[in-house]
Parts: sequence; structure tokens; C-alpha cells
Amino acid sequence: MTAVWTRILQAARRYPSPHNSQPIRVRIADPDRIELYYDLDRGLPAEPYGIPFGHVCAGIFVELVAIAAHAEGSDVIENLRYDDMAFDGSDRLHPLGTITLVPAGGPVPDLDAELIARRCTSRLPYDSRTVEPAALAQLDVEARRWGHRLATTTDRPVVDEIVRINQRTLFDDIANPAVRHELATWLRYSHEEAARRRDGLSAACLGVPGRVLHWFVEHHTWWSRPGLRDVARWLYLRSMRGVRQLAWITGPFATTADSVRAGRAFIRCWLLLTAHGVAMQPFGSVITNPRAHAALVAAVAENQTDPHDGQEMTWMLMRIGYSPPPPRSHRLSVDTLLVEAV
Ligand SMILES: Cc1cc2nc3c(=O)[nH]c(=O)nc-3n(C[C@H](O)[C@H](O)[C@H](O)COP(=O)(O)O)c2cc1C
Repeated sequence: MTAVWTRILQAARRYPSPHNSQPIRVRIADPDRIELYYDLDRGLPAEPYGIPFGHVCAGIFVELVAIAAHAEGSDVIENLRYDDMAFDGSDRLHPLGTITLVPAGGPVPDLDAELIARRCTSRLPYDSRTVEPAALAQLDVEARRWGHRLATTTDRPVVDEIVRINQRTLFDDIANPAVRHELATWLRYSHEEAARRRDGLSAACLGVPGRVLHWFVEHHTWWSRPGLRDVARWLYLRSMRGVRQLAWITGPFATTADSVRAGRAFIRCWLLLTAHGVAMQPFGSVITNPRAHAALVAAVAENQTDPHDGQEMTWMLMRIGYSPPPPRSHRLSVDTLLVEAV
């Protein structure tokens, strides 16, 4: 692998993925060209939006490669594939297409590639400040470049209601055996386990002591008893203190190509938030749970067309604000990302 690809992949491997499962794999096809794959064994089949969010992840990765390549003085030629993906497919590496580097003779104007390493999810309490309208306007311009819209609210009853919807969805998901078992495979209960495996959701990043997290997942029927459920809810909602603003993105989300494009818009908006020092946590579960999604759409009065017949869907929701620097999540090494002949 050339030194340039090593540097680009060092940056791109920090891409965010649901449960930090890091499903993207890379094959160095020749010195200028990489092939990308989605590792189905790292997908989330129990999640209703496992496939579309898988394609969102692919779009995020492709976009980060482009931003990192631009900083290296290269243009990229993308030859992406938008084939349907199925978690039970016999071929476990689903091809996503290729990216070729073309020297541009100097850095190509783009977002600052340093933002890629700084970006992270903050699940800490926020400090009640709302984000500068000018920064949000910049995000909306970026989203619109990709055919999407970014909207926000600081309406206290709406924010509080959606935060509660997110909490209820999380607890409902954990009560669902398939979703709980899948989530449990990605939870890392100690610093040692998180650092050794370099993937998944660490207790530290979730802001919950490892033992409490283990108890909560393993003895969820216990926690769902009246009284104890209230304690669990109270503990979880403590992490949402100071949340005064939510943002969501609406746009085409019906096809594979739509989801890949959505991922590209999403990561660019996230990097812009990082540039403005804004903390963010996606509330992806509210999107993937149909009941929660319907409640969200009603609460924010977004007009939706059926994503399968029509054009638009609110496909991402997040809390935004300001927090101290959160614990950092781990990443697999570049070597682990690489696959040999497929
Ligand atoms: C499509 C998508 C959906 C996500 N949904 C959630 C979510 O529902 N709740 C959450 O806490 N984090 C969510 N995340 C954040 C990931 O868990 C996070 O990016 C990953 O653990 C890596 O951590 P980092 O963002 O700090 O690098 C989501 C990320 C993506 C890309």
C-alpha cells in the first residue's frame, strides 16, 4: 500500500458507524485504486434499518476518503455500486465499488481533513446553550447541496418529548430479544475489553459504569419492573440534562443510492458541527423504530411521503449542543480493514 493510501485510510477509519461495528473493508486493487466492501458479518440484521444505515455508513466512508484525499492533493474518481444488500447473502463481503486517486497538483479545496479525527459522539449532558444560527445555516446549505434539508428545534416541550421518545425507544429495543442480543454483542463492558477489541460501544462512551450496563442488559426483565424501570429511566435521562436543541435531516431515502448520498451529506454536516465546536449524538433508534419515527414526525410536524413510494423521509435525528470532550471510541487498525483477494 502506498504511503498516501495509508494516510487516507488512517483518517477514514475514524468513520462513525451504528454500534461502532465498523463494517467497511478495503482491498488495495492497485497503487491508485481501492475496492470497498461491506462486511455483512459486521452488519446489524436485527435493526429494522440495518440495510439503509449500512449504506449510510458506506456513504460516510466514501466521503471521508474523498476529504482525506483532497488534503493529500488528489482528486478521486468514484465508481460506486448500488446493488441490493442482504444480511443472509452467502457472499459475506458485499462490493460497494472502487475509488481511484488522481493527482491534482496540490490540496483540493474541501472541509479541513483534521476534523475527521476530532469528530465524535457526545452522550454527556450538554450545557443548555443552543447553536449559533449562522452555523446551522451553513449545515442546511451543505445538506441542500445533497438534496436534503436540515431542520432544528429549540421548542422546549418538543425537545423534551423527543428526548423521552428516544429513551422509551431504547428501552423498548432492549426488551426485544433479537435487538438486545445483537446490541449485547457490540457492548464492551470494561476499558480493557474496549481497547483490546477496538470496536463496539464501550461503557465509557455510553457514560454508564460497565457493571451497571451489564446488569441492565442481562437482567432487563428485572429493570422493567415498576419502580426499577423508573430508576433506570431517571438514570438514563440524567445523561440528557442540558439538551435544548434537536436537529433532523429530511430527504430522499428510498434507494441504496439515496442512502449512500444521505451518508455523505450526514458526515459533512457532522464535520461542520465539529468545526463549530458543537457536540452531537445521533438518535438513530428513533428512526429505526417505526412507532418512534411516527411520533417524531408528528412532534416536529414534518410532512413525509412514504419513503418507499415517495421522495422524502426524516432519516436522521440528533441532539446538538455543547459538552465537555467525551471519552473517545476505539477503531480497528488500517491493517484490520484490509482484505486480500475477494
Ligand atoms: C447511522 C448512524 C446511526 C447512529 N445511531 C446512534 C444512536 O441511535 N444512538 C447513539 O448513541 N449513537 C448512534 N450513532 C453513533 C455511533 O454509535 C458512533 O458513531 C460510534 O459508536 C463511534 O463513536 P464516535 O462517533 O464517537 O466516533 C449512530 C451513528 C451512525 C453513523
